[in-house]
Amino acid sequence: MRVLIVGGGGREHAIAYMVAKSPLADEIFCAPGNAGIEEYAKCVPIGAMEFDKLVDFAQEEKIDFVIVGMDDPLVGGLVDRFEEVGIFAFGPRKNAAILEGSKAFSKELMKKYDIPTAGYDTFSEPQEALAYLETAKFPIVLKADGLALGKGVLICNDFEEAKAGVNTIMIDKKFGSAGNCMVIEEFMTGREVSVLSFVDGKTIRTMTSAQDHKRIGDNDTGPNTGGMGTFSPSPFYTKEVEQFCIDNIYQKTVDAMACEGRPFVGVIFFGLMLTKDGPKVLEYNARFGDPEAQVVLPRMKNDILEVMKACVEGRLDEIDLEFEDNAAVCVVLASNGYPGAYEKGLPISGLDKFIDRDGYYCFHAGTKNDNGQIVTNGGRILGITAKGADLKSARANAYRAVDWVEFDNKYYRHDIGKAIDEA
Ligand code: AMP
Ligand code: GLY
Repeated sequence: MRVLIVGGGGREHAIAYMVAKSPLADEIFCAPGNAGIEEYAKCVPIGAMEFDKLVDFAQEEKIDFVIVGMDDPLVGGLVDRFEEVGIFAFGPRKNAAILEGSKAFSKELMKKYDIPTAGYDTFSEPQEALAYLETAKFPIVLKADGLALGKGVLICNDFEEAKAGVNTIMIDKKFGSAGNCMVIEEFMTGREVSVLSFVDGKTIRTMTSAQDHKRIGDNDTGPNTGGMGTFSPSPFYTKEVEQFCIDNIYQKTVDAMACEGRPFVGVIFFGLMLTKDGPKVLEYNARFGDPEAQVVLPRMKNDILEVMKACVEGRLDEIDLEFEDNAAVCVVLASNGYPGAYEKGLPISGLDKFIDRDGYYCFHAGTKNDNGQIVTNGGRILGITAKGADLKSARANAYRAVDWVEFDNKYYRHDIGKAIDEA
């Protein structure tokens, strides 16, 4: 098969690595890709939101199968565009990607189909939101309805903070039209676990669990980011927790989407919180998480193309997913300043240390090939992933590999996976 991967971050690098291992892949392209993905795929300078150019390119290159990794193009309907010209594309159609694209939609779905989640209300007028907040219990959570680069969630400790939050989201429109509507949600406490799954519209197959670290600073301090590191599996995702989710969340979500006339094909990412009243859904994403994909995919034994093809063809029931009985940890190397302003174009050294080293991966996120020298080209630069027999050895391996790579302004968290010590 001739495969096109759309996206250019660490997640797409991990996907490209898996696709390259598949005997079904003849040639791999990636738009726009990055300097690391070039090892497996021919990168073409087309942005993930340039739908016309992507469709033209896929037709010219006789692409058989497209994998859309990112949320924006999925929510914008890129899969539908490929389907219109008869090209198979892995990912939800626009009417199903709304599961991630609108928090008001996903909350209503969970309420209607009795899927456990935090209590909430939806508002499209700032005055009504403020009136509600005057008598609300704090802390409370404000969420911009639409996509906001993972930054549209504000946890407010009192009315003044919440008032400022309503201004930010609905009046100043810091997240653009994502803030036309807002969800106000009950604050929950507990461990967070991410579970990714393949879905073919009817059948769901969950992958091994993972946990993200969203804050920039050690010990979960400072602002939220796209994700500073992950580990897999999560020791907090016990057999009991899993059984609860099987009975109350996973298949119910897939059935609910089908029932609404929005059959979901692709990856559903369940962001779960393990509260004292049992697991509840924090959020759904309509794609692999990043950096979750960087610890989950290297542990997957299946041929990723075979699984994705089965999803698109509606025969996922024929597939059993298999994962290695080990663990993986990913430490994100960022540029100092991220998630605020940072410098770009700094040369990176040490990348050759990963060549032919089994169990160690250097997934590129914000990198660029500048005339043969790989340089930084974003906030999150690399995802350094290592496997180990258990989480502790995977963590030791990952931090060893963190030292192999150097660039000016290198920044990373030192406590990725530390929570496992408490398990
Ligand atoms: P979301 O994008 O909805 O996953 O929210 C981003 C992060 O905000 C989550 O990973 C949680 O850490 C936090 N969060 C979201 N909703 C809640 C909630 N209802 N209670 C507590 N924390 C939350
Ligand atoms: N790591 C969280 C996400 O991909 O949304």
